[in-house]
Amino acid sequence: MKRLNSQLQDDGAPMELILLLRTILAGCKEISFRVSQGALAGVLGSTLSENVQGETQKKLDVISNQILKDILSESGYVKAISSEEEDDVVGCNPNGNYLVSFDPLDGSSNTDINSLIGTIFSITHAPQWMEPDDPSAFLQPGTQAVAAGYVLYGPSTMLALTTGKGTHIYTLDKTHGGFLLTTANIKVPEQTSEFSINASNQRHWQPHIQNYISDLLAGKEGPREKNFNMRWVAAMVGDIHRVLCRGGIFMYPQDAREPDKPGKLRLLYEANPMAFLVEQAGGLANTGDGRIMEVMPTDIHQRVPVLIGSKGEVETCLEYS
Ligand code: AHG
Ligand code: MN
Ligand code: MN
Ligand code: MN
Repeated sequence: MKRLNSQLQDDGAPMELILLLRTILAGCKEISFRVSQGALAGVLGSTLSENVQGETQKKLDVISNQILKDILSESGYVKAISSEEEDDVVGCNPNGNYLVSFDPLDGSSNTDINSLIGTIFSITHAPQWMEPDDPSAFLQPGTQAVAAGYVLYGPSTMLALTTGKGTHIYTLDKTHGGFLLTTANIKVPEQTSEFSINASNQRHWQPHIQNYISDLLAGKEGPREKNFNMRWVAAMVGDIHRVLCRGGIFMYPQDAREPDKPGKLRLLYEANPMAFLVEQAGGLANTGDGRIMEVMPTDIHQRVPVLIGSKGEVETCLEYS
């Protein structure tokens, strides 16, 4: 099976980017190991602190963030990082050529039930003029990313990665510690009969989302004239992995719970990297109001509504708005 390095070279990735990706993945392998130790290593449960998102941090949120922060700060390739678990941008090497944004542990409510979790990241060039702790360079649309990916800590540890030449899926071979290519150029099926949304928020959704979902639920007897299945992993990384593998539509729409926060998911750490991966696999990623990757961020922790998945189904959903 083909190794990660060899696929990245075939895709024309510059050597420094390859080395940076290998650095991120070294951190992810350490997270994968800590996650797999679970209660034996005392890494489950919550801390007493809250992050800038207003969420109680799990121990694994803090550990994963520290692992990635340390390895990226020491690498030399990175000028600055932004993370879901850091209040502000963290300056690294003034001569670093790249910026990295990451969700160190996605799906942290799943940690204590031994269910799917992952790490999501994206990489852009660092402008020459930038001071290492200047957040403004992170405020560029997702279209500027040079790479994005996630590592899924599931029954096997898998990597989905794009450098803009398709999305490839790799599996970690724990016998030698390398990621091997297991699906090249994955394609999201254009049509689907599976959707993914947290239906407990239904009463807070906007009317057009209510209408769309009720038409899906009406099944064969309704206007869509087919039955739809529903899945919700509670970790975007798990839901998007399923969408990449077999299609579907994943939604976290804006709702009326917190009017000042448009949706739950974070543009830099979740929406943009997943949008890049899914678009490179032939799917669509929209806020309901335009392409996710074209949103101009105004804040590193900005949230956006998310509709991601099979092209035909995202288009149908957009027709309701
Ligand atoms: P995180 O664990 O990084 O804070 O992200 C959780 C996100 C995302 O992974 C998932 O799709 C969503 O929150 C789940 O939300 P609900 O709690 O509403 O199910
Ligand atoms: Mn969180
Ligand atoms: Mn997350
Ligand atoms: Mn997280």
